[in-house]
Amino acid sequence: MQVFQELDLVRTYVSEQKNGHSVGLVPTMGALHDGHRALLKASKQDNDVTICSIYVNPTQFNDPADLEKYPRTLKEDLELLESMDCDVVFCPSDQIMYPQAKSSVVQLDFGQLDKVLEGHYRPGHFSGVGVVVAKLLNMIQPHRAYFGQKDLQQLAIIRKLVQDFFMPVEIISVPIVREASGLALSSRNQWLSTEEKQQASQLYQALLLAKQLYDGGVKAAAARKQAVQQLDQHPDIRLEYLEAVDPISFRSVKDDGQTEAVAFCVAAYVGEVRLIDNILITGY
Ligand code: PAJ
Repeated sequence: MQVFQELDLVRTYVSEQKNGHSVGLVPTMGALHDGHRALLKASKQDNDVTICSIYVNPTQFNDPADLEKYPRTLKEDLELLESMDCDVVFCPSDQIMYPQAKSSVVQLDFGQLDKVLEGHYRPGHFSGVGVVVAKLLNMIQPHRAYFGQKDLQQLAIIRKLVQDFFMPVEIISVPIVREASGLALSSRNQWLSTEEKQQASQLYQALLLAKQLYDGGVKAAAARKQAVQQLDQHPDIRLEYLEAVDPISFRSVKDDGQTEAVAFCVAAYVGEVRLIDNILITGY
């Protein structure tokens, strides 16, 4: 496994490898878990060469304290990647990713898509995600790039970025990996106590309820309401939102009937930890 920090080194390596070979990129912020592993497995299956990037991107953290405490576990991450036969790891410094002054970093506006749900609660977050993903895709120029449905709104943002800028890369989405309790794996779960983890699994239970109701013919808005009521019975969960949206546009699914694709998306605090999750209803 090759580990690169310098842009010109990784670029030279990739352009050599690209000669007749397909290249898959799995962008991450490290603290790798089985969710990331699913992305790596998908890339290894589809491509001759798999590159994992590890970079904790400061511009997507709207809360400096969150950035400060984000888990950094490079040694363990490299061991996991080695054990998975990952071909290349790219772990650039801030200086390489953002040589320009912080105040002059490009800002991206995705319209409605970055104003609702995560975009509303984390102002500037999706601009930072869009900027760093655009940088990574231009630096590595992979044939395919892999993203998890766990961050469904991020996935929609990245699809729009790639489409609007004609980026020659195929975006592949990978289903959410969960613990046996239903809790979606996340690098932030390590801050939850055993009891909090149990409480956090209620988020998935509420999403399942919404899905069951919707599948049974209940309108999205009514299914959403019942799921919210179920969560309200758990005082340890501080709900920010639980909404029914179109998974591409992230427009709210109104009460005027069933649409083709619906995602129920939730964000909540359990103790001090902010968690997000979602469930998709139709093929996506
Ligand atoms: P990070 O949170 O490290 O996640 C990296 C990728 O793993 C994302 O595409 C995310 O959706 C996926 N992922 C995380 N948990 C998952 C789970 N339980 N099941 C399936 N996939 C999961 O998302 C980011 O980093 C950053 O925003 C990034 C795209 C790297 C840009 O900085």
